[in-house]
Amino acid sequence: MSRTILRGRVLSFSRAPLGFDDAESYLYLEDGAVGIEDGVVVSVGDFAEADIAGAVIIDHRPNLILPGFIDLHLHYVQSQMMAAYAGSLLEWLNTYTFIEEQKFSQQGHADAVAVDFYDALIRHGTTSAVAYCSSHPRSVDAFFAEAQRRNMLMVGGKVMMDRNAPEGLCDSAQSGYDDSKALIARWHQRGRALYAISPRFAITSSPAQLEAARALVAEHPDCYVQTHLSENDAEITYSMELYPDSPDYTGIYEDYGLLGPRTLLGHCIHLNHRETGVLAETGAVAVFCPTSNLFLGSGLFDRERLLNNGVRIGIATDIGGGTSVSMLRTLDEGYKVLQLRGQRLNPFASFHMATRGNAEALGLEETIGSIAPGRAADLVVLDARATPMMRMRMANVESLADELFLLQTLGDDRAVAEVYVAGARAKSTLGGL
Ligand code: GUN
Ligand code: ZN
Repeated sequence: MSRTILRGRVLSFSRAPLGFDDAESYLYLEDGAVGIEDGVVVSVGDFAEADIAGAVIIDHRPNLILPGFIDLHLHYVQSQMMAAYAGSLLEWLNTYTFIEEQKFSQQGHADAVAVDFYDALIRHGTTSAVAYCSSHPRSVDAFFAEAQRRNMLMVGGKVMMDRNAPEGLCDSAQSGYDDSKALIARWHQRGRALYAISPRFAITSSPAQLEAARALVAEHPDCYVQTHLSENDAEITYSMELYPDSPDYTGIYEDYGLLGPRTLLGHCIHLNHRETGVLAETGAVAVFCPTSNLFLGSGLFDRERLLNNGVRIGIATDIGGGTSVSMLRTLDEGYKVLQLRGQRLNPFASFHMATRGNAEALGLEETIGSIAPGRAADLVVLDARATPMMRMRMANVESLADELFLLQTLGDDRAVAEVYVAGARAKSTLGGL
């Protein structure tokens, strides 16, 4: 396969920024060249010094080339029920979510939604995501089969839920275990697919099911685990009624051996001191879902407190509780949530979080989330002049920090000029744009 060189302004983080503009934490090339061969980055440097002989050159100047965004928590089966009018989490789940997800017992439906879902991800610059499928194994097949067709690195799994939901959505402790086991055998590490063992949350999993999840985790330690934790007051109260012997909500998952460095916990808003200590000790990741937390009125994520207590953190859309597929919109809302907490999220920290930071949360920083030789060529090209207002504002922008902040505050899918998945153009080749 021939070598491609992308020319543009290149930005890639090597670690979390320590101060506002910690130049040691990132590589920035004003006129950069990213060499790509066989889907992998083979060189990064100044264009003037690049070996361009025989290479196909694609010029993206003056746009920014970044690693593709990574979304750490979403429900692809809720793509068609974003923007559902509800007062709070449990009403939203019972009124809309549990109805919508039942449609995924139909293979044709799952296949069709998967296609549209991946088109949406690509349009918004997200090249990898961690997803909940429905409780139906066929929804997982549709999810991974479509990812495989597009050569995307995706993490996902069948939701395990055996109570407090409609019968059409419930599995059992045994069938949840058996189906998950079969799906792991079918999909985990097949191509770029990675499996996440996915007990939905304490309310919809009986003790017997959490016991089955514990067995799966023990039998498949290289799979991820994902669940929801401490999103909403009524959810916490109900969870503690269902698991009265656990010290707190986190303690439920702890008691069933579900917490570790490969565990992703959606929301983590209302944690007590003991709980943050347990997350820090086990290395489990707290996933910030700002658009969802605002939309459902769940609460304000306390980033500083978690970081100060040594808890690992990621960021995500939480579609369809979340209100945008865009990680730019998500960073913007994250900024606003933290403003309400009296905390600042600087643009370097937020773009780090959506790329390298989320890759680190997955332990995949050697594969995705940065632009360096040997990493997958999963990239997003961002245009900070994409709309008339952005163009107007850009006339006044003097620093990279200002440009990034403008992108996250005013940007959406229109600011995504191109996307590369494993070195192949993925946005401009979508149909129907
Ligand atoms: N808790 C359990 N299931 C869900 C879900 O689908 N979305 C959100 N936001 N929270 C949940
Ligand atoms: Zn969720």
